[in-house]
Amino acid sequence: MDAGTRDIKLSCRHLWKVYAAGAAPYFKSEVASAEAGELSRRMREDGAIPAAVDVSFDVHQGEIFVIMGLSGSGKSTVVRCLSRLVEPTYGEVLLDGEDLLKASQKELIEIRRHKMGMVFQNFGLMPHLSVFDNIAFPLSLQGVPKAERIEKARRVIELVGLEGRETSFPRQLSGGQQQRVGIARSLAIEPELWFLDEPFSALDPLIRRQMQDEFLRIQRTLKKSIVFITHDFLEALRIADRMMIMRDGMVVQMGTPAQLIVNPADDYVAEFTEDVPMVRVLTAKDVLDKSQTPAPCMPQQDASCCVEELLPLLASQRAGIAAVEDGKPIGVVTAASVIAALAHQDQERSSDSAPAGVSAS
Ligand SMILES: Nc1ncnc2c1ncn2[C@@H]1O[C@H](COP(=O)(O)OP(=O)(O)OP(=O)(O)O)[C@@H](O)[C@H]1O
Ligand SMILES: [Mg+2]
Repeated sequence: MDAGTRDIKLSCRHLWKVYAAGAAPYFKSEVASAEAGELSRRMREDGAIPAAVDVSFDVHQGEIFVIMGLSGSGKSTVVRCLSRLVEPTYGEVLLDGEDLLKASQKELIEIRRHKMGMVFQNFGLMPHLSVFDNIAFPLSLQGVPKAERIEKARRVIELVGLEGRETSFPRQLSGGQQQRVGIARSLAIEPELWFLDEPFSALDPLIRRQMQDEFLRIQRTLKKSIVFITHDFLEALRIADRMMIMRDGMVVQMGTPAQLIVNPADDYVAEFTEDVPMVRVLTAKDVLDKSQTPAPCMPQQDASCCVEELLPLLASQRAGIAAVEDGKPIGVVTAASVIAALAHQDQERSSDSAPAGVSAS
């Protein structure tokens, strides 16, 4: 689905967070985006820390929006500003069109309690509560009746694979297990907006992949609007509808993962994307054999299916696979067309020119 045609759930406009004794004088008059870089340099010279610099993006209804960037680039700061756990210095945050920065503390608590789920980088669990109580606690704040609380908590505990550990305390759990408690706790309240700050970073690769699958499965059913921070481009590639790369508090590039891989704005973005195997980026539609037309006997695959998933099928289908879009065959993929497309992309990557020809939507 095209993100542009969906409703905007959350809008972040020219957001700044400056850690300094007195940042207000910098914002006496409106700050134009063109001057943001210069202003942030001046702030650094003055000893202030501009952690978010003129950050603007929209999160659409049901979209997974990923933020990436090196350590210290401002990712956690931005996501915390979105829920006002960190108070922005300047800018706007609109939730369903309402200015969140104008909400009173009381209204904010209600919004966080009912509309927002948060998974923190450092877990943020309550040490004196058991796994079960940590997960059920936000539900009691919502006023959910006890029987329903127990039922919902049990369901999410099962979802994240923590059955049998309900009575443990956070200190008795590994980092990955604590993170899963955090994920379960935020899911239990069924939030409209879900903020996840590196939720899977403490998990080992196998569990991480399972959690990603689980996360995507949940998202297919629940269709939350999600802001997800990660250090891992492969993770972004698997889950993101769109993503944003940050450096020194600023947005360097925004787009779909495929757009960033194929057309990185600069070397900083290219470094994030360089280890991504093209078989995960290219789809059936990108590798069609133009000289062939689909035959009725050919097995069919969705045109948006990634090449990696097509490979096993191609190994046994010499004649090729018909790529289908909106119920209609649009072309044929063969082992040879895949190899040709991969070789072409490889060349494009090793030369410095901006590659073309890959559909990134
Ligand atoms: N409370 C604070 N006071 C002063 N500076 C802060 C504060 N919190 C964050 N910073 C600074 O703001 C910048 C951005 O930090 P932030 O935590 O947003 O980075 P990040 O991109 O999430 O990094 P990481 O990947 O390590 O989690 C850093 O330079 C950090 O030192
Ligand atoms: Mg962080």
